[in-house]
Amino acid sequence: MSTLYSEDLKELVNDALHVYFPKSSQRLKTINDAMSYSLFSSGKRFRPVLVLLAAEAVGADPKVALPVACAIEFIHTYSLIHDDLPTIDDDTLRRGSATCHVKFGENIAIMAGDALFAEAFVLILTEQAKLTDTQRLVRTLREVAVATGIDGMVGGQVVDIMSAGHDVDQSTLEYIHNHKTGSLIVASARCGAILGGADEAQLEAITSYAGHLGLTFQIIDDILDIVGTDSTLGKNVGSDINNQKITFPGRLGVNRSKEIAESTAKLAEEALGGAEMYRDRLNDMSNFVLGRKS
Ligand code: IPE
Ligand code: IPE
Ligand code: MG
Ligand code: MG
Ligand code: MG
Repeated sequence: MSTLYSEDLKELVNDALHVYFPKSSQRLKTINDAMSYSLFSSGKRFRPVLVLLAAEAVGADPKVALPVACAIEFIHTYSLIHDDLPTIDDDTLRRGSATCHVKFGENIAIMAGDALFAEAFVLILTEQAKLTDTQRLVRTLREVAVATGIDGMVGGQVVDIMSAGHDVDQSTLEYIHNHKTGSLIVASARCGAILGGADEAQLEAITSYAGHLGLTFQIIDDILDIVGTDSTLGKNVGSDINNQKITFPGRLGVNRSKEIAESTAKLAEEALGGAEMYRDRLNDMSNFVLGRKS
């Protein structure tokens, strides 16, 4: 799978994920294998790299946010495992390999997702706590918890599930995308910025940037579900159509959706102009999202 952005930070994340991955007893080998199978497959590490880039943008060493970056990748991986389940999107291919439930069974896949979610908080409370004062740590925990709860990713997934096959309006479609995908992307950028010591203007600019970036990311995801291939994407093309999902190209066509993605990515870059910061590598991220093939 192609990744052409901030390779140094991606490598940092991949190394740290191995260090932070929870080790368990032999008794729990199966779930441990399921968790590591999904986590250490070929993910883009987009969200953890974004955490680190946001810290860097406000002048900090990206490493100040490394445990939270990895915790967010744990959470993202949990969301993928559950998203692929037969009762949700019913997909068999993820990150170029069989989905977790195909390989380990539905019961273990559900538990592997649950465990990754909980272990993300353990990681923040142990490793991030060594680097960060209590006030910032609590603020970061709240960002992650809210972004993944009912008013965040789970809310978006629920509306995505319940809207399938129905004729919903554009604002519902945007609600789905901004929550199922946007919330964790916004939280990633905000956590990096907070841990990097952002001032209010920087945090506001980065939040606005990440909101537009998240929407762009999911519009492109919807387009790739139509124009991509299983082998390049590493997941099942056509999943949205099979599941009668509400998508941008489904509502507006591929060409119009591409135009919207381009103008949304532009809004992301413009938002970064709202404060003094280093923005080159954040701009690279929005270009990557627009041009990505996987
Ligand atoms: C897939 O996310 C799920 C969506 C929110 C669209 P990614 O495209 O970041 O998947 P990985 O982590 O690279 O596998
Ligand atoms: C899922 O959106 C977003 C998540 C919270 C996992 P999709 O269902 O479109 O993601 P893919 O295409 O399966 O990666
Ligand atoms: Mg889905
Ligand atoms: Mg899916
Ligand atoms: Mg998709």
